[in-house]
Amino acid sequence: MDEPGAGSGTWVWTADVLQEVGLPARFGGQGWEAERLDRLGRFVCRRDREHPLRWAYRRETTGGPGRERLAARLATEGWELFGTWWGISPAIIILIFPLGFRLTCYYYRKAYYRSMWLAPAACAVPEPHATYTGETRFPLVLQNVHRYFFYVALLVSLINTYDAVVAFRHPTDGFVVGVGNLVLLVNVALLWCYTVSCHSCRHVMGGRLTHFSKHPVRYRLWTWVSALNTRHMLFAWVTLGTLVLTDLYVALVAAGTITDLRLVG
Ligand code: FES
Repeated sequence: MDEPGAGSGTWVWTADVLQEVGLPARFGGQGWEAERLDRLGRFVCRRDREHPLRWAYRRETTGGPGRERLAARLATEGWELFGTWWGISPAIIILIFPLGFRLTCYYYRKAYYRSMWLAPAACAVPEPHATYTGETRFPLVLQNVHRYFFYVALLVSLINTYDAVVAFRHPTDGFVVGVGNLVLLVNVALLWCYTVSCHSCRHVMGGRLTHFSKHPVRYRLWTWVSALNTRHMLFAWVTLGTLVLTDLYVALVAAGTITDLRLVG
């Protein structure tokens, strides 16, 4: 990390703040006030060159309802830099979408409730129940929201792709490749395989067509998605593992428990 120039008035820096707990206090003491985070997550700081003020920074960690109380207590001191609109961790809030996508996935439905309720057990296997309503009644009818979760999952995959690409740009060293970049890349590639092999995606590509010959592009896309779709169960399980391992790897690097091995740059 570069030190700020002696006479400069603005400065952008980044560090593993979880590990380097003393840095904000040290730079605050030099007159640097953290104004905001830029889109790479770096601190954008300003300093009055003529009349520098000293800023004291304190780290507070909390979660759940405690966050509200802490934010209210610190608000008068101007500590809450990034807003307080959420009551729980944003990491939990964002889980609604990938979790909703997976819980309503056609494959996972088979794995987590059809295999236990045996409704239906399989094609050509007699139903143990007198009547079969499938997923046409509450609560199972809610599974139909899967197609909407699919659209959100596309958005999430795009954001993950963006993250994997910008991770190649180090704030000070330029283009770099580390083990972490490869982890993110493999993770996002497999996520795309899982998302695009979705049954809803297959329907979006080739559903409701009576003449494939009149829609050659959609037919071609439908063929590709259908080929991937045969491996949907595999992608469902593999991505469950890679998601956890990728998050774990990123968390361990961010906490300074392990160091990301630099391969290029
Ligand atoms: S069917 Fe599994 S994700 Fe859509």
